[in-house]
Amino acid sequence: MSIGIGVIGTGVMGAEHARILRHETPGAHLAGIFDADAARAQAVASGATVFSDPQSLIASDQIDAIVIASPDSTHASLTRACIAAGKPVLCEKPLASSAADALEVVKAEVGLGRKLIQVGYMRRFDPGYREIKRVKDAGSLGGSVLLHNVHRNVRAPDWFNGPMAITNSFVHEIDASRWLLGSEMVSARVAAGPGGEPLMITMKTDKDELVSTEVFVNASYGYHVHVELVGRQGTISLAPASLTLLNRDRAGGLSYPDNWVPRFEEAYRRQMADWVSAVKAGASVGASAWDGYVASAIAEQIAGALAGGGVATLKYGPRPPLYD
Ligand SMILES: NC(=O)c1ccc[n+]([C@@H]2O[C@H](COP(=O)([O-])OP(=O)(O)OC[C@H]3O[C@@H](n4cnc5c(N)ncnc54)[C@H](O)[C@@H]3O)[C@@H](O)[C@H]2O)c1
Repeated sequence: MSIGIGVIGTGVMGAEHARILRHETPGAHLAGIFDADAARAQAVASGATVFSDPQSLIASDQIDAIVIASPDSTHASLTRACIAAGKPVLCEKPLASSAADALEVVKAEVGLGRKLIQVGYMRRFDPGYREIKRVKDAGSLGGSVLLHNVHRNVRAPDWFNGPMAITNSFVHEIDASRWLLGSEMVSARVAAGPGGEPLMITMKTDKDELVSTEVFVNASYGYHVHVELVGRQGTISLAPASLTLLNRDRAGGLSYPDNWVPRFEEAYRRQMADWVSAVKAGASVGASAWDGYVASAIAEQIAGALAGGGVATLKYGPRPPLYD
């Protein structure tokens, strides 16, 4: 049986999720759309019902589960509305635009007593990240000592202000680092380069591992995400994700995409497929609401440190038993 999915927010990410649902997700279909901009909703609908408000989409009996891809500030209230309706959600990251709002989502889910929320930290579904985790978990690298992350964008839009490099971009590395290492972050240092970027963030884990991350949202040359895990017996890193190697003018070079959609296309596809399977089975996969809260809580404390002395002792928890 095919399950009906509603997509709220049909900008860059919502349109991509709608495309994946329509063309690349067996067992599910795009049933409904809502966007604050009705023309955008119509452009993506292609036969799906266009709703006039998000509440009627969530309540509709055509809609079995919901993808939220509207702006960060809308995530917490929309996920809570889905929890109240008892409908599963794949919510784009971050779970909320503040740690307090993310915690309210966790409390609503704990109140319901079952997990309905998956947060769209799609690197958990990227084949390269998954291979690093598989090799690390197999133990052949020895104990992990260091994780290096690089997160570079071509350019940030004008509305993308200083803390958003942490609360909207670096949240990916918080989640991926916790997931890859199986560790919790306990402290952080942050410093900004000339003119405010790039950011250099170092975190320490509860196992004394170091996690370093460069976040450079105006790196010009291309969208480039990299990670290297260093163990006591070896290292493993992502291979270049380039589709081509261009030889010209006595030089060879990789190519970089303009943004995250081509780079993580396979991760978005696998994330959707696994989420749909989990919804059908009444199970959960990927980053939970708790993971979403922890990422937002750490990001908020590091953003606070950036505006202050550059050092943070990270506080969150305790984790409710629902997420054990
Ligand atoms: N997982 C990832 O790799 C990834 C990448 C980029 C963005 N994102 C996240 O996806 C979300 C959307 O980002 P985007 O880049 O697609 O932004 P976007 O600006 O391209 O699209 C946002 C859409 O939401 C609509 N919108 C605005 N207010 C709304 C409301 N109240 N209700 C419903 N729709 C509303 C806008 O009209 C627009 O069509 C953000 O939360 C962002 O953090 C995730």
